Amino acid sequence: MNAPTDIAKVLASTPDALHGYKTFTLGSFNFRRDEYFVHISWTTRDGRPLSHTMDAGNFLRALMRDVAWGFFYGGVNFDHVFGTTNHYKTVDLYAGTYNVTMKSAGVDLLENFETPQIAATFAQMLDDWTNEAFDPFSAPQETGSPYGRKSGSNTPKLTRARELAKRCVGLKDDLNLRSDARGAPINRAFADVPQDQPELHPEPGFENEVHAFNLFAFLSRSQVTWNPSFTSVVKYSFMCPTTEEHILPIIHANDRVEWFFQMCDEIHWDCADKTTGKPLARVIMKAGDMAAMPAYCRHQGYSPKRSMLLVWENGSPNLVYEIEKGESPEIPVTF
Ligand SMILES: [Fe+2]
Repeated sequence: MNAPTDIAKVLASTPDALHGYKTFTLGSFNFRRDEYFVHISWTTRDGRPLSHTMDAGNFLRALMRDVAWGFFYGGVNFDHVFGTTNHYKTVDLYAGTYNVTMKSAGVDLLENFETPQIAATFAQMLDDWTNEAFDPFSAPQETGSPYGRKSGSNTPKLTRARELAKRCVGLKDDLNLRSDARGAPINRAFADVPQDQPELHPEPGFENEVHAFNLFAFLSRSQVTWNPSFTSVVKYSFMCPTTEEHILPIIHANDRVEWFFQMCDEIHWDCADKTTGKPLARVIMKAGDMAAMPAYCRHQGYSPKRSMLLVWENGSPNLVYEIEKGESPEIPVTF
């Protein structure tokens, strides 16, 4: 057993003598990885030791999103047992809390942390446990294996700047369009997507107000999967398009309504009650389909080939509290 050492509020062991990975401790939770698996262990509320095992690749793909998205909107379930809930200044870390079987058996645990503390622990865990050949943001066919003993690191791919437009992609002093020169070639799945840009004819003086760009071309050059970027921002209306391939690495538990517009190809969604995990719906979205995920659901998508999805978020910082108080609805529309 290695002695824990303090690394700027992060409790990490020295590297394991055999496989080379550090073990991390956060509150009552212990995190350990080996060649294939991540082992999370904790003591239940009635004092019993319990553990949970995840595939190392699945864990790192989920951890990558949680770190990069700053714990996102609402809940980020890594699987049916483990995950985080964002309270926007603090974060809940839980095991079994939203699994009705574990909850009723009393073997769940939830602890709340200041956001900087859990963020630092998660970022160091992600960096230590990701080998040189593996990029957790890439589609499985576009990256190497997550398995095996510690072998190098992949820090640049784990610390990509999140692409967040202030007003709209391509405007002056805003997020740039993607191009070969900027290291964003067209993805193999989107070789047929036209790359021409719309003509703009603003009146003099309105060149920085009137704007348009080719969103399909922009998305065809996305280097990552399941990673919404902001392409336009109007007050709290955030257009967050993304390219999806294989499985959404997290089961997202909404704390507000979230709209989906399937721009090409298709995604199959499993939707469930966010508190219990009880299945609610299967949603098969094909090109042109729109759907809204209510604030009470959790959802996970399956994209058989790389597809384009426009996610529309209401980024109001008050919305989650308005919903909790019953002032805003959990559903987008009543028929
Ligand atoms: Fe979502």
